[in-house]
Amino acid sequence: MSGVSGVSGGRAGFRPPPYPYDRLDRLKPLAAGHEGGLVDLSIGTPCDPPPREVVAALSSSGAERGYPSSIGTPAFREAAAGWMLRRLGVEVAVGDIAACIGTKELVTAMPQWLHLRDPGRDTVLYPAVSYPSYAMGATLAGCRAVPVDIEGGGLEAVAADDVARALCLWVNSPGNPTGALTDLGAAAAWGRAHRVPVLSDECYVEFTWDGPPRTILEHGSEGVLAVHSLSKRSNLAGLRAGFYAGDADLVHYLSEVRKHAGAMVPGPVQAAAVVAFGDDAHVDAQRARYAERMAFFREVLAGAGAAAEPSAGSFYLWAAAPEGDAWALTAWLTKWGGVLVAPGDLYGEAGEGYVRVALVQPIERLRLVADRLGRAPGAGGGPS
Ligand SMILES: Cc1ncc(COP(=O)(O)O)c(C=O)c1O
Repeated sequence: MSGVSGVSGGRAGFRPPPYPYDRLDRLKPLAAGHEGGLVDLSIGTPCDPPPREVVAALSSSGAERGYPSSIGTPAFREAAAGWMLRRLGVEVAVGDIAACIGTKELVTAMPQWLHLRDPGRDTVLYPAVSYPSYAMGATLAGCRAVPVDIEGGGLEAVAADDVARALCLWVNSPGNPTGALTDLGAAAAWGRAHRVPVLSDECYVEFTWDGPPRTILEHGSEGVLAVHSLSKRSNLAGLRAGFYAGDADLVHYLSEVRKHAGAMVPGPVQAAAVVAFGDDAHVDAQRARYAERMAFFREVLAGAGAAAEPSAGSFYLWAAAPEGDAWALTAWLTKWGGVLVAPGDLYGEAGEGYVRVALVQPIERLRLVADRLGRAPGAGGGPS
């Protein structure tokens, strides 16, 4: 089956593949000659400051002495519920919410836990162009990862055998790397019809540009989970705080397993998260920063011959490389602009021919890149 990865038929043990962003290391020296250094737009790691009150809460909670609650303190879960009601318009019972240590650990461990619950199933369905951790979670569990062209209407095309074996379907809206929005109502309905849990990674939800923010929980909680993070919303990727919410049985099962596994968000982090979920002004300020950077850099990319549609969400631009050669465009941008972006095949074979640009650097740094590219040979046309 083409595109399926994960289960090894041979006897060789697991050899971790190169970490996606480590593949870019060899390009970095190309930017060495640029005064002002490399402008790194390859990884979606926020650079802007989190609210001061959040950082202060880290050292004043007194929560460091005892073990923290694995499911999350009542204050943490109430803050998450309050945030979902305020920002996403959905009312979720505090008992149907549980903490996770950032969301990446939840994403990558989920297949293992779902497979333990339902050993007859061994397949993770995930978006064909996506955050690499959905497929890696399947690999780490010894399961199969089957990419699906969800935005292209591909859910109906998933093979019956893959549906029958599916542990879950991941969706991600707004999506990394394309910034596209997914029809979450259709995904939830498909999951219910086929008895496949639908896990909706919504970590960019407050950076939705096309219409209001949407959560899968608008379509009911049966058979679905929404997964949220403070990493992007509040520039707190270093804190490691997130939560999952939705289907009562699934939340209960996962939180019991996680308690046994010792998965705990540190107490001071939970206290800081309460403050972060309680404030929206810093997110609105961040939205304005991303909007300015994305509009500016779309023009810069167009000048390099790389067209990007305005993103419907996220802080990424997804640009088509001239002649479909994303690695050549990436190398050219690094050499002449001193800027590092991510070739689209880091997000799956179907991403070939595109680059992802994460607008995580201040506008002054983006202007610096524009100035450098203005002096590049063949400026205005990009690599040839
Ligand atoms: C789509 C998506 N999901 C999840 C994550 C993980 O975020 P965190 O583990 O910081 O919550 C990322 C980070 O880049 C992401 O892009």
